[in-house]
Amino acid sequence: MIEQNVNLKPHNTFGLSCKAAKFSNFSNIEELKALLSNRKNTDDPMLVLGGGSNLLLTKDFDGLVLKNEIQGIEIISENEEFTLVKAGAGEVWHQFVLFAIDNNLGGIENMSLIPGSVGAAPMQNIGAYGVEIKDVFHELEALNLSTLEIEKFQNQNCQFGYRESVFKHAQKGKYIIVNVTLKLERKHHLNTSYGALEQELEEMEVTQPTIRDVSNAVIAIRKRKLPDPAEIGNSGSFFKNPVINAEKFKVLKAAHPNIAHYPIDENHIKIAAGWLIDQAGWKGKTLGNYGVHKNQALVLVNYGGAKGQDIYQLSEDIKQDIISKFGIELEREVNVI
Ligand code: EPU
Repeated sequence: MIEQNVNLKPHNTFGLSCKAAKFSNFSNIEELKALLSNRKNTDDPMLVLGGGSNLLLTKDFDGLVLKNEIQGIEIISENEEFTLVKAGAGEVWHQFVLFAIDNNLGGIENMSLIPGSVGAAPMQNIGAYGVEIKDVFHELEALNLSTLEIEKFQNQNCQFGYRESVFKHAQKGKYIIVNVTLKLERKHHLNTSYGALEQELEEMEVTQPTIRDVSNAVIAIRKRKLPDPAEIGNSGSFFKNPVINAEKFKVLKAAHPNIAHYPIDENHIKIAAGWLIDQAGWKGKTLGNYGVHKNQALVLVNYGGAKGQDIYQLSEDIKQDIISKFGIELEREVNVI
């Protein structure tokens, strides 16, 4: 059923109050197809929501918002090497992680507690503590909006990159992801090489970590650094970590010997945007009911009742300041509507 004038506040983790002219949820492919084939004016804007965790709403949405609520997580096949697990796109991502841990399946424990839905995860190739969804991705099914047919996408068709996929570029707005299948392992090699994770496990006095130990360590770090959207509105990292060339890095490093960075290849270095924003003095800055989180400068927050426009303007001000102080242009990770 399509509702009119629906407040999207419960549907975005920033907790912003914006209205959708029309709103409906769907819990299976048939319902989705029915909604789409009944649409009178296909030129009207449409927005598909998963967990709404990567979204900055700056105005009311004059179109149809569809909330994906396709549920279900199941093991679909298993061999010596891999176990394929399929989940409905409307499942909460962390429920997928918990399912894997409960079944002693490794591969996604480093991505514990990332907010958002299963369907949104491949769209921006979510990642944390050294692992990205592309590393365990098997395939996804998506509804083609022009043909209303289901199509399968394998790893190479998704064109995964750092917080990127084909669904943010060439195929943007053309598909709705309905389920995702990951390739998990029973004999799993844990990836604990990420500095903060290694340190956390040491502090937990865990020497032979299990999948669950790694998940618990990740959860502990995230809870310490990142605000819980149920308490303070936010959408995780607001900006992407910028990648610069070696020449530019040399100059920056000479001026800022402590610059937080990760080498990518011989000529490319990823700079921690959180470090840049922190150094520029924005961390913990509060402007009334919104601001920059006190424990992680990469996260912008809504303390309650803020406007998306104000948060957008704050992000513009930060961008300008980072350009003038470091000569680096930050790119937003969130989807601005
Ligand atoms: N830093 C500061 N000040 C800050 C924040 C960070 O100096 O306010 C420094 C830290 O000390 C560290 C470096 O910057 O040396 C990196 O910080 P952190 O390890 O917290 O990671 P990040 O680069 O800020 C990225 C992802 C996160 C992911 C973590 C862990 C992006 C844009 N963000 O953050 O992903 O959880 O690494 O893997 O790539 C997200 O995308 O929403 C997200 C939360």
